[in-house]
Amino acid sequence: MWCAIPPDAWQSVCAERDAADPLAHVRARFVLPPGEVYLAGHSLGPLVAGVSERIAHVIAREWGERGVRSFSEHGWIDAPARIGAQLARLLGAASDEVVVCDSTSVNLFKLLSAALALRPGRARIVTELATFPSDLYVAEGVASLSGGAHRVCAVPRDALDAAIDTDTAVLLLTHVEYQTGALRDLASLSRRARDVGAISLWDLSHSAGVVPLDLHAAGVDLAVGCTYKYLCGGPGAPAYAYVRRDLAASLRSPLRGWLGHASPFAFEPSFRPAAGASALVCGTPPILSMLALEASLAALADVDVARVREKSVALSDLLIAYVEQRAPDPSLELASPRDADARGSQVSFRHPGALALSRALAARGVIADFRTPDLLRLGLAPLALRFTDVLCAARTLCDVLESQTWDRETYRGDVRVT
Ligand SMILES: Cc1ncc(COP(=O)(O)O)c(C=O)c1O
Repeated sequence: MWCAIPPDAWQSVCAERDAADPLAHVRARFVLPPGEVYLAGHSLGPLVAGVSERIAHVIAREWGERGVRSFSEHGWIDAPARIGAQLARLLGAASDEVVVCDSTSVNLFKLLSAALALRPGRARIVTELATFPSDLYVAEGVASLSGGAHRVCAVPRDALDAAIDTDTAVLLLTHVEYQTGALRDLASLSRRARDVGAISLWDLSHSAGVVPLDLHAAGVDLAVGCTYKYLCGGPGAPAYAYVRRDLAASLRSPLRGWLGHASPFAFEPSFRPAAGASALVCGTPPILSMLALEASLAALADVDVARVREKSVALSDLLIAYVEQRAPDPSLELASPRDADARGSQVSFRHPGALALSRALAARGVIADFRTPDLLRLGLAPLALRFTDVLCAARTLCDVLESQTWDRETYRGDVRVT
């Protein structure tokens, strides 16, 4: 629909879409700095209203007044399983199949190591070159512990199908590719893994909360993901791990900590795993981060991810259509799939000055990010964005390119976090 919009009608069309948006009321549940369009929800989701107060309460009352007693009195000890059960709803999993703990990278280490042990005699961890680098590094690290028995086979996307064979122990994939936002087919690739007897292990960091997920229906064996992007858990929020129920009894994490024990306070000398995904918890959970995540999830619990996806597609299509209609710079190239069905909730453009461009945009209140060597990433967190916000960001991008204001000394030079 966006392609046929006359140049002078964009504002009114977007205002109409905002007025008719069934999710419009949810925006008020976020703390959003005025005058900014925040397009970095794929990196760190915006702050949910009420979280600061909740954490202040936990610190002052639960920690300050009740101290260690809050582990039981306020359910701190159960937080990994309890919040895991809340997330399970979003993932299409049973409540005991998801646990919240550690970082995505650490959870990947645990699940990948455990998965390899379930497929003795198979050597290959098959993945894509486009997999998030931390996942590739973890896979390399896991393989390095095997004394040569395992190796990582990271291939370009078009070689993936051929790479999955009967020597494949684990197929490790990212659901939404971090650079281009390309969305992989969860069900068909999980089936492909199963058909050769391999275990599927997915990184859902860029899809949970914005792409409807049904891990059971898709036949996914194992999954990890972070909660600080579209789930708005906060900076460094703990990650999650999913273990299909029928694998849980045989899966053994190499990181066995006391809080993954079936009976931690029995202080037995030997490890006995807790039931389900809970065996993956190692040490004491970061309670403040856990409870911030829980408060964010609670504030957004009534939101239907199918509606979120519809809005995400509409916002991304709008962004692409506006920029392509104005065609502000011949060097700007769409890096994301044009087909919405093949895209997550992110639009990436290639441009030789992408880093400077991201900084010039930030100076005008449009917060996006840069990925080396030439990608400008615009993440669409649909619950916190209006159609008119995305139009404003698209206009600003075109203005900055047409006026070449990005190409200034102030926007050059290295930055530590892009
Ligand atoms: C797809 C993906 N996987 C893994 C990670 C790493 O997550 P963590 O820092 O929780 O280990 C990220 C971080 O942005 C990511 O985008």
